[in-house]
Amino acid sequence: MRRRGSSRAAAPSLGLRGAAPGATPSFSLPRRLVSARFTKLQALSCAPPAQLARPFVPEVEAAADSLHSEFRAVDNLVAHNTTRVLRAFQNARVGSHVSQQPCRRGGREALDKVFAEIVGAESAIVRSQFFSGTHAITCALFAFLRPGDEVTLAVAGAPYDTLEEVIGIRNPFGNGSLRDFGVEYRQVHLAEDGSLDWDALSGSLRPQTKCALIQRSCGYSWRRSLSVAEIERAIRMIKMQNPDCLVMVDNCYGNLWKQWSLLRRKMTVGDWFFSSQGADLIAGSLIKNPGGTIAPCGGYVAGRKRWVEAAAARLSAPGLGLDCGSTPGGVMRAFFQGLFLAPQMVGEAVKGSLLIAEVMSSRGFKVQPAPRVPRHDTVQAVQLGDRERLLAFCEAVQRSGPVGSFIKPVAGSTAGYASEVIFAHGTFIDGSTSELSCDGPLRDPFAVFCQGGTHWTQWALVLGEVLNSI
Ligand SMILES: Cc1ncc(COP(=O)(O)O)c(C=O)c1O
Repeated sequence: MRRRGSSRAAAPSLGLRGAAPGATPSFSLPRRLVSARFTKLQALSCAPPAQLARPFVPEVEAAADSLHSEFRAVDNLVAHNTTRVLRAFQNARVGSHVSQQPCRRGGREALDKVFAEIVGAESAIVRSQFFSGTHAITCALFAFLRPGDEVTLAVAGAPYDTLEEVIGIRNPFGNGSLRDFGVEYRQVHLAEDGSLDWDALSGSLRPQTKCALIQRSCGYSWRRSLSVAEIERAIRMIKMQNPDCLVMVDNCYGNLWKQWSLLRRKMTVGDWFFSSQGADLIAGSLIKNPGGTIAPCGGYVAGRKRWVEAAAARLSAPGLGLDCGSTPGGVMRAFFQGLFLAPQMVGEAVKGSLLIAEVMSSRGFKVQPAPRVPRHDTVQAVQLGDRERLLAFCEAVQRSGPVGSFIKPVAGSTAGYASEVIFAHGTFIDGSTSELSCDGPLRDPFAVFCQGGTHWTQWALVLGEVLNSI
């Protein structure tokens, strides 16, 4: 067992996983080369001084060591996703003339085009004027639904807390919710094990069901986030029962991870159209995955052109649609740069979530997703079991952040949420959950939802403080 603060020197890291600290490397490079490499490392100060050799507490360090191959697999996916992002930038001929100028039509068009290509959509609107993910999802739902339309059907159990008032599950009348406009709501409950209830879904569509809402990430529910394959299967089932039913995927926390087939497109003569297996719209926030931790605000809606335009008309005004949205040059630059960085930042967040699962489950806490199972978003939930532990966890995370470390987070009421919620967001962008953060509603089973992070090593350090505190 390694001890924290031990003064024993460790071997310089040369990719020798499993080598005992201080052991002589045992690969077959000629001795001359090995010693030349050591000398160079020392000259460049790459060899960690003894007191820095073990920056993490032993439990965290052991978990990080054991996750080497999972981290490598994440890196591969990051490289794959980065290739896709780069191609989209190149195809849209992004130059400083569009990425850094304020408020230019060319800039907006290029950003929409890049985003649409990345997510495989016919069209997209990416704007600072979306207040949040909830706002973007609301614009998408209102794009589809009209007064008197019978049903919005939530396919994966209850939707995220802030959508309750949008749909009208809570406070239905007088505030412009869908129910206020006469749009009814039903939901397909989850199966006992927290997965989609395929039997129930196969008989749930009615001819008048106008829209199905699929929430990819778990939100504040204790359930698995959905894989792309599950979402595709759900869309197939929905469209088979009612081809006219429009599908909206709440893609919060799923973007820039595994997703490309969520929106399928096929080329026909001079035109794009979607196969019946694709979602019609996806929507989410830019201070989650696709903002790459540096977009300061905003959201997106992407999918079929006709419906993106309808969502844009809801955001701005009928007749204005996509053709507006003043954005300062610095923000435009952050949108482009954030989108470029997003695969890497999402990869780091996923590594952080693998580490949290490993460490917290070894301490006996229930975690969702389980350690080492494939991930479908950047969220890692940990069931803490009581209010005090949830508060202590969030306080430890806040104390360990770069911003507001002196602040003690307190649970309180927040617009859009029925429960009291606690947030630990020591982030540069206020409220950003692509940066390292955690939060949770003060209700049974007192789960904390962890997400984000620009580098997994920050989670490794934070976990040390968490383990000391709960
Ligand atoms: C699944 C899901 N949908 C929607 C939202 C709402 O996003 P926002 O907080 O940006 O409004 C969240 C927020 O965490 C979420 O987890």
